[in-house]
Amino acid sequence: MKMVRNSIGLGFILVLVGACNYTMHPELAGSGVAMPPSDRCQECHTVIFEEWRNSPHSKAYTNEPFKGITANYKVTACLPCHAPESVFDGEKKLRKTRHEEGVNCQSCHLVEGVLQGPVEQHLPFNIHPIKQVDTYRKSEFCGKCHSRTFAEYEQSGRTKKTCQECHMPKVRRTIIDNKPWVWSKDEYDFRRHSFNVMDLAEIGSKIELAVVLAGQHPPGGQIIIENREIPHNIPTGTYGYHEIRLNLYLLDDLGEPKAQQSFSFTQEMKTAIKPGEKRVIPFVFSDQLALPFAVKAVLIRADMDQQESHVISQRLEVF
Ligand code: HEC
Ligand code: HEC
Ligand code: HEC
Ligand code: HEC
Ligand code: HEC
Repeated sequence: MKMVRNSIGLGFILVLVGACNYTMHPELAGSGVAMPPSDRCQECHTVIFEEWRNSPHSKAYTNEPFKGITANYKVTACLPCHAPESVFDGEKKLRKTRHEEGVNCQSCHLVEGVLQGPVEQHLPFNIHPIKQVDTYRKSEFCGKCHSRTFAEYEQSGRTKKTCQECHMPKVRRTIIDNKPWVWSKDEYDFRRHSFNVMDLAEIGSKIELAVVLAGQHPPGGQIIIENREIPHNIPTGTYGYHEIRLNLYLLDDLGEPKAQQSFSFTQEMKTAIKPGEKRVIPFVFSDQLALPFAVKAVLIRADMDQQESHVISQRLEVF
């Protein structure tokens, strides 16, 4: 009986030792034409996949502005950052397959046949080739493609959060979330993959707005916009359309808008608000209003066609 138990024990240890070098799905780390579609990652990393699919990164190649400006992908110099094989290749190379996936899982995680990430390995065998490295927690990582934003970040020189701390909010979850693969119920602090700038603005407005009234006839004063915490320009970026707009409304005692003014901030016009900068914008409305009246300042991210806009900060002052 004892011998039987011992040999079962020995067998178990042998299986474990063998398992250490065993990789269940080597094909998941395939590169070049052998790169599996991101759908494969969805089998186990279901939630991350959903977040990524709705993120700007998954649309980096197929979005209309990109398609248009590159004349239907004829300007080949533009393509590598928008559908790279791996950002860790010395020089970014356009993937051989599935360009339509844009900046896909492998663009960020595949390094020389291994899927790298920030997490310690938990399993006693490899589900797919995997390696833990610190790179993913650093702003330099995002800087591999967001070069101008990263340069602004470096120059801002104050103690600051990493890109990930703001743009990939913390979330408690298991490392894989799909049956039958939920091998551990343990939850860790991981980070969201949605990269949604709108959500971010809602979480915490880091752009301070103040309305200072200097005169009543005519109503005028100053708007002060302070970029206290964001370690890059507002707006930031090199490519595409980025505009921040300040809309000012003069409201009567019933809260009805009587007049409106608008101010635009862009990188191209060199009017973007730098990290730490306090921008003072004088305003005067030509309309006369009896007290009490109010001035409402709304800061929005605007679209090129001015169709859609998203509020990033607002302030109302009654006089
Ligand atoms: C734009 C780059 C980028 C893309 C695209 C991307 N990731 Fe990540 N991923 C990261 C970063 C950065 C982290 C580290 C976050 C942190 O600090 O914990 C990470 C972390 C992870 C982790 C570790 C757990 C966690 O949440 O921290 C897994 C698993 C993962 N990614 C899988 C995927 C899968 C699957 C896809 C595609 C559906 C994908 N990633 C797409 C950048 C990316
Ligand atoms: C069969 C299930 C399964 C599939 C399919 C799968 N993964 Fe994983 N992945 C895992 C498991 C399990 C872990 C955690 C392993 C551990 O901790 O030992 C993991 C971990 C990771 C990590 C974290 C590495 C780290 O050290 O932080 C990344 C990145 C990752 N996978 C990317 C991918 C990508 C990209 C794909 C699609 C090409 C993919 N995975 C497909 C099961 C899977
Ligand atoms: C492989 C290159 C690459 C890497 C690495 C990368 N990005 Fe991106 N990112 C892009 C591209 C290309 C777009 C534009 C996608 C689009 O709008 O079509 C983008 C878009 C974004 C947007 C949306 C911008 C907007 O105007 O709404 C945010 C936010 C963002 N990235 C943050 C990050 C952060 C934070 C990291 C690091 C964790 C990161 N990115 C890593 C290439 C990259
Ligand atoms: C303290 C939080 C914070 C940190 C750290 C941060 N960002 Fe942002 N980022 C924001 C906010 C808030 C916005 C929305 C305002 C805006 O659109 O400018 C934004 C906007 C963006 C955008 C959208 C482009 C645009 O129109 O401005 C990109 C791309 C971006 N950030 C990339 C990065 C990268 C890359 C890093 C690291 C080098 C980084 N961010 C660090 C808070 C942060
Ligand atoms: C170094 C990597 C890199 C290269 C090269 C690159 N891009 Fe981008 N592209 C980005 C990043 C990162 C973003 C996100 C916004 C930003 O930072 O400008 C982006 C965003 C865009 C957008 C905005 C997409 C949207 O949803 O509105 C367009 C359009 C664009 N790029 C066109 C181009 C064109 C045209 C070229 C070639 C002249 C080019 N890109 C080359 C990294 C790159």
